[in-house]
Amino acid sequence: MTAQRDGGFPEGFLWGAATSSYQIEGAVDTDGRGPSIWDTFAATPGRVAHGDTGAVAADHYHRYPEDIELLSRLGARMYRFSVAWPRIQPTGRGPVDQRGLDFYRRLVDTLLEHDIVPNLTLYHWDLPQALQDAGGWPERETALRFAEYAEIMYRALHDRVPWWSTINEPWCVALLGYAAGIHAPGIRDPRQAVRTIHHVLLGHGLALGAMRAIDPAPRQGIVLNLAPVRAADEVPDEALARAVRLSDGYRNRVWLEPLMRRHYPVDMEELVERYGGFPIEPGDLTAIGGPLDWMGINYYNDTILESEPAAVATVHPGVDGVREQAAEGEWTDMRWPITPDGLRELLVRLRARYPDLPPILITENGAAYDDPPSADGGIDDDRRIAYLRRHLQAVQAAIAEGADVRGYLVWSLLDNFEWAEGYGQRFGIVHVDYGTLTRTPRRSAHWFRDVITRNGLPEPEGNAA
Ligand code: FCB
Repeated sequence: MTAQRDGGFPEGFLWGAATSSYQIEGAVDTDGRGPSIWDTFAATPGRVAHGDTGAVAADHYHRYPEDIELLSRLGARMYRFSVAWPRIQPTGRGPVDQRGLDFYRRLVDTLLEHDIVPNLTLYHWDLPQALQDAGGWPERETALRFAEYAEIMYRALHDRVPWWSTINEPWCVALLGYAAGIHAPGIRDPRQAVRTIHHVLLGHGLALGAMRAIDPAPRQGIVLNLAPVRAADEVPDEALARAVRLSDGYRNRVWLEPLMRRHYPVDMEELVERYGGFPIEPGDLTAIGGPLDWMGINYYNDTILESEPAAVATVHPGVDGVREQAAEGEWTDMRWPITPDGLRELLVRLRARYPDLPPILITENGAAYDDPPSADGGIDDDRRIAYLRRHLQAVQAAIAEGADVRGYLVWSLLDNFEWAEGYGQRFGIVHVDYGTLTRTPRRSAHWFRDVITRNGLPEPEGNAA
């Protein structure tokens, strides 16, 4: 009883899991799919660990019924997946390939048959290569093409998909893709990164407008990876304080302010001008700031910065002299620190800063751990359970402090292609054997099912505490 009372979540809380197309589907040449920037990037030597590619991945394209069965056994109420744009328009423009659309229609229908609410992401990074060849996100044209593709998908599925999001983690698209170059398309050019910031937001805004004009009923949103950014020193010197402020700008405010307030952060103007500035045209900020029905937040860890006078920025253009503090104490296999209170802090601060913030779903949260199967064939990933428990406690604390969080989707349902890390990092609550493609739920999957059934956290047991 106590666990139930202390550990309960609001009634109707939307529990589930998330994945993305390139990370699980495989079948990259099937049914007319065109190449994406991730096919190209992965095929370029030295870009992805071990030369891994998404060519087979978890073969979800063929095994989706089994994966939905897994979701159903978890008791999931919602499933977040993304659509591979190059399956719909192989070159990012022009005629639709019906076979691609049919795949997602089958996927959605199978979810609905299992009483699982589909939550569709339009863009989780697999840009059609042909659009990158024409300049990619630094070009305004890509935002226009994205809105057109969004409209195609929406017309096809708005009658059966009640939750939509446009772009997954625009920070990664712009800054990992075009500034740091560690994600596709692997470009290191701050000017292109700055243009991309504006064009992904514009793509979002135009898509939203197009979709709402067709049918305003389904919920429309965007998924951001936000995180508190702070200084390692309690009393940072002026340079570190500035770096923290501007990093927070790139990480959080450059997205939130135009989305919620229709302007870019004023204190970033000078910096961004150094790289050519945002290519804003009349009406853009109105489109970008159109009403959101919900916001997805992906959270893994917060960012602690320390001075490193010699450091030249790679990810955040112009924010030199600073580096991320190496994780102390606990971290996951990604060497990402474990900072659950950052999630509580983020949710509470967001609400204070934006009282008109729409309802939130935690659209990703999870940890990479590669625990080996034990003698009985089970996989005891107690560290993942501990990670999830602590972050769910943080969500509860934030809700108690007034945050309007409506659901939580674990990253990820399955082990998958972890971008530049390839298959070396395993995030699944379900293990995938990449030789046989056999799926084996880890102990965390059983634990999560229990959480869903109770709508709350079970008492900690043994070392899973
Ligand atoms: C997020 C991505 C997701 C996954 C997790 C670990 O940034 O949205 O695809 O790779 O990180």
